[in-house]
Amino acid sequence: MRMILVGPPGAGKGTQAARLVDTYGIPHISTGDMLRAAVKEGTALGLAADDFMRKGLLVPDEVVIGMVIERIAKDDCAKGFMLDGFPRTQPQAAALDDALRAAGVSLDAVVLLEVDDALIVERITGRRSHVDTGEIYHLKFNPPPAGIEDKLVQRKDDTEEACVARLQKYHSETAPIVPFYGSLGILRRVDGVGAPDAVQARVQAALAG
Ligand code: AP5
Ligand code: MG
Repeated sequence: MRMILVGPPGAGKGTQAARLVDTYGIPHISTGDMLRAAVKEGTALGLAADDFMRKGLLVPDEVVIGMVIERIAKDDCAKGFMLDGFPRTQPQAAALDDALRAAGVSLDAVVLLEVDDALIVERITGRRSHVDTGEIYHLKFNPPPAGIEDKLVQRKDDTEEACVARLQKYHSETAPIVPFYGSLGILRRVDGVGAPDAVQARVQAALAG
C-alpha cells in the first residue's frame, strides 16, 4: 500500500497514521516529524528549517523533496509507505510522481481528512505530545493519562498565530494539489470530525472500498 494522508494542520493525520500503520505494515513517514528531529539534532537541515516551521511557513521544496525521495527509496518502503504531510506543494507532488514513475510503482490511495477551519485552532492549541514516544494527545479531546505531565511537550508552531499562517499555506499551496489525485481516481475524501475511533473506521472503509 503506497498512500498519502493529506489535510489541514490538526486534521488528525498523525493520530490516524499511528493507528493505521500497524494494520498495513508500512512505515509512517511524516515530513513534520523528520524536520522536527533534524531541528532537535541541530543538523544543517534542521537549522535551515527551524525558522520557517516556527512561523508556520513551508520549508523550501528543494530541502523537503530530497529528504523524502531518499527516505522512500529505503528497503523498508519496498512494500509501501504512508506519507503524512508530503506532498504539500505542486512541485513536491510533481517530484513524487516522477520518482514513483522512475521506480515503476504508483500510488494506491490519497486520503483527504476534511476538517473545517473553525475547529482547527482548538485542536492545535490543545495538542501535547509525549517527549519520548511522540504519542499525540489533546488536553480536551484525547487527554493524556495521569502522571505523565512532566513528559508532555507543546510544539513551537502550535500557537494561534502560527496556526493561522499554517492554515493559509494549506489553502494556498496544498489544497490546489488535491484535484490532481482526484483525476487519477485515487482520492478518498474522509470526514475528519468526530471521535478518533470513528474517523479511523471511516478511513479504513475508504481504503477498503
Ligand atoms: P506537520 O508536522 O506536517 O504539521 P501539520 O500539517 O500542520 O499537521 P499537524 O501535525 O499539526 O496535524 P495532524 O494532522 O498531524 O494532526 P494530529 O493528529 O497531531 O508540519 C509542521 C511544519 O513542518 C509545517 O508547518 C512546515 O513548516 C514543515 N513541513 C512539514 N512538511 C513539509 C513539506 N512537505 N513541505 C514544506 N514544509 C513542510 O492532531 C492534532 C490534535 O487534534 C491533537 O491534539 C489530537 O489529539 C487532536 N485530534 C486528532 N484527531 C481528533 C479528532 N478526531 N477529534 C478531536 N481531536 C482530534
Ligand atoms: Mg502531524
